[in-house]
Order: sequence, then C-alpha cells, then structure tokens
Amino acid sequence: MDTGTAPKPARPKRFLSGVQPSGKLHLGNYFGAIKQHIELQHEGDCFYFIADYHALTTVEDAARRRASELNQKKPDRAATLRENTRDVALDYLALGLDPEKTVFYRQSDVPEVCELAWILSTVTNMGLLERAVSYKEKVEKGIDASVGLFTYPVLMAADILIVRSHVVPVGKDQVQHLEMTRDIAVKFNEAAGKPVFPLPTPRLDKESKVPGTDGQKMSKSYGNTIEIFAEGKPLEKKILKEIVTSSTPLGQPLDPDTCNVFALYSLFASDQEKADLAADYRSGKIGYGTSKKLLLEKITAYFEAARQKRKELAANPDYVEEVLRRGAQRARAEVQQTMSLVREAVGMKPQTVG
Ligand code: ADP
Ligand code: TRP
Repeated sequence: MDTGTAPKPARPKRFLSGVQPSGKLHLGNYFGAIKQHIELQHEGDCFYFIADYHALTTVEDAARRRASELNQKKPDRAATLRENTRDVALDYLALGLDPEKTVFYRQSDVPEVCELAWILSTVTNMGLLERAVSYKEKVEKGIDASVGLFTYPVLMAADILIVRSHVVPVGKDQVQHLEMTRDIAVKFNEAAGKPVFPLPTPRLDKESKVPGTDGQKMSKSYGNTIEIFAEGKPLEKKILKEIVTSSTPLGQPLDPDTCNVFALYSLFASDQEKADLAADYRSGKIGYGTSKKLLLEKITAYFEAARQKRKELAANPDYVEEVLRRGAQRARAEVQQTMSLVREAVGMKPQTVG
C-alpha cells in the first residue's frame, strides 16, 4: 500500500446559485450577479440553475407585466414562465456560461428538490420564516401571500443543500435566506445525529447597487431597467431619453458623484476613462447629451459578441434544450446521492426506481 506523504489534493470548492426567470435580465442582474457567476467557473465546480419553481410564486406579476408589454388583455402565466425560462437560458449561455464545465439546469427538471424541501420544512420553525424580510417586502408590493411564497426560503435551502454546495454567490438581498439555510441545515444535522449537510456560506457580489434610469436601484419592479440585450432604437431611447439627470445648463460644471449616467458609465470604463470623464464633468466641458452617447457606445460594444451569440443560440432551440437536459442529468446524479443520505437519516428507504 502506498503510504507516501504527498498531501491529498484539496477538493475543489462547489459553488451553487439560482436565478429566477421572472423577466428580462438587466444591467443590475449582470453586474450584480451574472458576471461573477461566469467568472467563478474558473475557481471551482459550479452548479447554476433556473429557479422556475421559485418563479411560480410571483408569476402572476410577471404575466401581468408581459401582457401589458404585448398589449394583451389576459395574462398568460404558463407562456410567461416558459418564455422567461428560455430567455434566462439563452442569456447565460450567450454571456459565457460554459455547459461543459458548469452544471446548468432547470430547477423543475430536478424534482428531488421538492422532496427535500418537504423534509426540511419539518425541521424549520415558523418563527424563522416569519422573520423573512423578502416575504414581507413582496407582500407589501402586492404579491399574493401564498403558502409557496411564505415557504420560499425552505425551497431555497433545499436547492443549496441538495448539491451539498459550500459557497453561494448572491446579492445582499439574499443573505438572510442563506442564514436561514444554515439554520435549517444545523437543525437537520442535529436531528440526524451526523453532518449530512455542509454549512454553506454566501459570497457577496461586488456591485450591490447598480442604479436604474431613475437613480433608484435598478429593478424589474421599478420599471427602470436597461436590458442586457436591448439594442438599436429601444436601447438608444432608454439611454438618451430615459436616464434622469440634473437640470444643470450646458457649460456649467457637473457632479460625477451624483450622476446616474456617470455611475453606469463607470461599470464599463477603465480607471483612466473614468478619470477623464470626471474631469470633463467638473470643468463644465461636457453635457449630459455627450456623456449619454459615450455610455451608449460602451454598452453596445461591451455586449456586441454576446448579442451575436444569443441570436445564434435563439435560432437553435434544440441545442439549448439539450444543454438543459444534460445539465439536469448531471445534477440528478449528484442530488440522488444526497437524497439517499437524507432518506436514510430520517428512517426512510433509499428511492428505488422500477
Ligand atoms: P429584480 O430586482 O429586477 O427583480 P432580482 O431580484 O431578480 O432582480 O435579482 C436577481 C439578482 O440580481 C439579485 O440577487 C442581485 O444579486 C442582482 N441584482 C438585481 N438588481 C440589482 C442591482 N440594481 N444592482 C446590483 N445587483 C442587482
Ligand atoms: N432567491 C434567489 C433570487 O431571488 C434565487 C434562488 C433560488 C437562489 N434558489 C437559490 C439563489 C439558491 C441562490 C441559491 O435571486
């Protein structure tokens, strides 16, 4: 037997994150989440999924938005979910998700998460869920307070724990859900008398607040987004007409630190470009019309290759379906191992098929 002293290679870190298919992805989603997801592919094993079970909790809202965009009288929930799911898949693949490296799947193709969510719900305190800020915020916004919306954090815990992930890249708004996941995992491990689940940690995204066209945080629900894949006239209109600026007359100095155009430009520009534009603002040499044009050029160039790729992918829906099918196969192989441990730990038999 080899008793050599060579250290064992460290197990690669496992990252997991989910994105809800709840509408067109925007620059806030890109700089706040997607960009980091893509970069992490080089740092460990990544599991990324399209959270369509989660999106069912707010699909009525998304369907209403879609109906108003399409001038339809009646919102169509199923068509909305289908289309939004397809859009997220296309967006991620076009923006650089590598389906050979990363396990990329649709949540509903891995129904074991619902089984685990049920089992976890039996060790989850009502009090824990009642403290969830995101639930309260959604209800305040007018979303129906369904049981599904209330137990959303348990399903999210199941997503994370079922692949036994270590690190979950998310935005600030999701940190409380991660704390709940850890709480639930501890409860389960204690009840099982063994560490079935590792305790996952959040990894905070760098850009936590990309401003929208009105200066508030960019968000679908505020109607202030700039979509990643907007182009041509609609993109021009967004940038040149809809970004709100101060009413300082042309020729007067402008303040880069409070300007939405400048904040958005900074996401794309090098340090030197940012310093140059800031100097032009302060000297009064430049007006908002010109800085908006600079921003428009940056956005157009930055996403040019991804836009091209997205068009090619959109013309090949079978390929996209195949990617998701293979991703689900790989995810299921992993989650079934977890579910055997879980079922055994609670006194059930492992699942046998056939
Ligand atoms: P929306 O507010 O448009 O509904 P989501 O809540 O679906 O967006 O956002 C998904 C993820 O995208 C968030 O967890 C966060 O990481 C990121 N995100 C969304 N909007 C922004 C923003 N304006 N700035 C930074 N990150 C954002
Ligand atoms: N709740 C997340 C959001 O709204 C999406 C999500 C669902 C998720 N399950 C997850 C994120 C698991 C990270 C891990 O953005």
